Amino acid sequence: MVDSVKLPRVPTGIEGFDELCGGGVIRNRTYLVTGASGAGKTIFTLQYLYNGATKFGENGILLATEERPTSIRENALTFGWDLKKLEDENKLAIIDASSTKIGVPSLERFIDIRPFDIDQIIDQIIAIQEEIGAVRAVIDSSTSIAYNIPDIAKARIELLKLSTTLEVLEMTSLMTAEIIHGMDARGFGIESFLTEGTIALYNRRTDNVRLHSLEIYKMRGTPHSNKVHPFDITDHGLVVHPHEEVYGEF
Ligand SMILES: Nc1ncnc2c1ncn2[C@@H]1O[C@H](COP(=O)(O)OP(=O)(O)OP(=O)(O)O)[C@@H](O)[C@H]1O
Ligand SMILES: [Mg+2]
Repeated sequence: MVDSVKLPRVPTGIEGFDELCGGGVIRNRTYLVTGASGAGKTIFTLQYLYNGATKFGENGILLATEERPTSIRENALTFGWDLKKLEDENKLAIIDASSTKIGVPSLERFIDIRPFDIDQIIDQIIAIQEEIGAVRAVIDSSTSIAYNIPDIAKARIELLKLSTTLEVLEMTSLMTAEIIHGMDARGFGIESFLTEGTIALYNRRTDNVRLHSLEIYKMRGTPHSNKVHPFDITDHGLVVHPHEEVYGEF
């Protein structure tokens, strides 16, 4: 019998999360982070990039299609994450893909001038990767990219091209998608995104409170928890409770 092989991991550093999947996500793969608005997708992915650069010596690229970089930096500071410092140290690059989309000027260092042209996005990511040696990437969000490609079949192929290219570039990546009950507003099911795994975030209301929780819906190449675990959004980011579970329909 051949000894079983454990594929190399990239720790997210998000408290309580990595132990749900054997120490982190598998290196050089692209994962989908899904959830409704306010579920915590942006915070989860920012924390992944911040921890990469500050704790694991892994630089990152953030393609921001919805929120302006200035507001991302401000929000991050509320968790004590100084993104500007990381950018000045060439540990993080934020590509502003929101300003040109809506026609407002941008003073950012990296601007996506042809928003939602996947080939142009890929060229820009390659150039930045060479400049800062990034091995982590976040696309926040894939939903708005897909919306801007009118043909649904083409949108799906373009997202697949992007996620596969990130893998070929040897980056470990998270792509967010606004998905509720397994579907996005355009009828994309989770299975339409051919990624190596899906982390589903929930923000479910019980009585008069909303409870944050998450599950690893799919992760190829590793055993993982198949439970729904609660998490808190604290003043230092997400804290997952790996030994607690949430019951009910999701
Ligand atoms: N500093 C904070 N402390 C506690 N909770 C916070 C803090 N900042 C944000 N939150 C919570 O996180 C939510 C936003 O999370 P996030 O921006 O990651 O959501 P999202 O899934 O990216 O949503 P969208 O799809 O709209 O972009 C807020 O609605 C709020 O409930
Ligand atoms: Mg968001």
